[in-house]
Amino acid sequence: MSRKPFLAGNWKMYKISSEAESFAKEFKSLVSDVKDRDILICASFTLLPVLAKEFNGTNIMLGAQNMYFEKEGAFTGEVSPLQLIDAGAKYVILGHSERRHIFGETDELINKKVKAALQYNLLPILCVGELLEEREAGKTEAVVKTQVVEGFKGLSKDEALKVTIAYEPVWAIGTGKTATPEDADSVHSFIRKVLSEIYDKDTSEKIRIQYGGSVKPENIDSLMAKPNIDGALVGGASLKADSFTRIVKFN
Ligand code: PGA
Repeated sequence: MSRKPFLAGNWKMYKISSEAESFAKEFKSLVSDVKDRDILICASFTLLPVLAKEFNGTNIMLGAQNMYFEKEGAFTGEVSPLQLIDAGAKYVILGHSERRHIFGETDELINKKVKAALQYNLLPILCVGELLEEREAGKTEAVVKTQVVEGFKGLSKDEALKVTIAYEPVWAIGTGKTATPEDADSVHSFIRKVLSEIYDKDTSEKIRIQYGGSVKPENIDSLMAKPNIDGALVGGASLKADSFTRIVKFN
C-alpha cells in the first residue's frame, strides 16, 4: 500500500500578512518541482486570503488550524467551515494538543468538528497524542486509542478515508525532543490497528498518519523512512521557507 507523502506546516499564531506573502513567494518557487507529495500550509484565519492568492495554481494547498462546527449563527469570535472554504482553505487541523490543553477541547467537541468539516467538504487533520506523564505511566496506547475512537465516532468508511491523522506526542511539540522514528512508527502502527478494528484492514492501510513534534530538516529523512509514517505536521520548522522546503524534499 503506498500512501502519498503529506507534508504540512502548522504556523500556529505566527506571521502577519506581509510576512505570509513573502514566505509564499519564496516557498512556491522553491517547491514548484515537487511531484507526488502533498504540500499544505495551515495558517491563521487572517492570513488565508493572501495565501490563497499566492498559492492559486500552485502545488501548495491551504488549511486552517481550528473551526466551530456550526454553519453560521450567534457564535461570537468563532469561524465556520463555510467561511474557511470561502477563504480558500481545503484542510483544517482539528484537536491540536494546544486546543485540547490550553482551550479545553474535548474528544466530543472535536468529533463534532470533524463531522462538520466533512459535511462541508473540508478535509480534517485530526491530532492525537499523549502527555509526558501519560507516556511515563505506560498509557500512550490507551490515550491515543480513545482519541482515535472518539474522533472517528459516527464516521462512515468513506468519511474516514478523508481524514488524516497527526500523531503528535505532546512532550515533543516545540521542545526539540522528537520521538525516535522507531517509537513514532510503533504508535502509528498501533493507530492503524485501531482503525482496522473500527473499519477494516484496507481502510486502515489507506488513511495517512503524519508525525508531529519537533520535526526538523535534520530528522525528517529518518522519520519518513519508517513504513507507517506518511508525512509530518511541522510547527517551528515550517515558518522559514528554506527549512520547510528541505522537509518537503525529504530523501
Ligand atoms: P513543532 O510543532 O514542530 O514546533 O514541535 C508541531 C505542532 O504543534 O504541530
